[in-house]
Amino acid sequence: MRIYECADYRAMSRQAANVISAQVIMKPDCVLGLATGSSPVGTYEQLVEWYGKKDLSFARVKSVNLDEYWGLSGTHPQSYRYFMQEHLFDHVDILPENTYVPNGLAEDAGAECARYDRLIESLGGVDLQLLGMGRNGHIGFNEPGDCFELGTHIIELAPSTIDANKRFFASEDEVPRQALTMGIRHIMQAKKILLVVSGEDKADALAKALTGPVTPKLPASILRLHPDVVLVADKAALSRLDNREGVMTV
Ligand code: F6R
Repeated sequence: MRIYECADYRAMSRQAANVISAQVIMKPDCVLGLATGSSPVGTYEQLVEWYGKKDLSFARVKSVNLDEYWGLSGTHPQSYRYFMQEHLFDHVDILPENTYVPNGLAEDAGAECARYDRLIESLGGVDLQLLGMGRNGHIGFNEPGDCFELGTHIIELAPSTIDANKRFFASEDEVPRQALTMGIRHIMQAKKILLVVSGEDKADALAKALTGPVTPKLPASILRLHPDVVLVADKAALSRLDNREGVMTV
């Protein structure tokens, strides 16, 4: 794993955007696995800026998002489809038909999960998977549990996730209790993984993910078994990591 320590959120976002833009420039028809939440907002802002300067084009890129709240339509302002339109898709030249997000209003969750897995396979898998990490170590919405769930599945959100995400809703009651999420298989099968982590409240989980046992109780720990992971984090997020060997400061 390559670890970049950045001074702050802005520097982290720029570094992460560099990794994505290098991917798009090297393989213009790549499949990007995308994430939502506050961690990648600055990364998307930077990409939009570079797109505006004609430094890169998403015209041939395809994207698959990690997750979607179960029960929210793509037009709901807190849905992850809406987030992606607002922060990236509406501002770059990616073709709408090449952007995929699980359907939170599908009739049958199981069938939607199976469809999403087939879709990812039909695209040939993910070239670069962007991930954030929850305070409890979740990636996508793969919450801590007794085993790693491999395929796309429906999940009960952990109380700490509902608590963390209530800031985006009018009240905690409005936060959906379930989500559809890509499973560990397609995340781990991505050719390259870019993990962005910011803030002191993630420091404990991040240190454990990097140095503790690989366990489904801390889903991000599995990333240590992937051959090509780039972690881009700010100082605060890396503040509990004792062993600084290999950490590159940018
Ligand atoms: C979002 C996702 C989640 C978030 C995580 C961190 O698509 O998959 O795993 O990355 O909950 O969220 P933030 O960045 O808001 O702290």
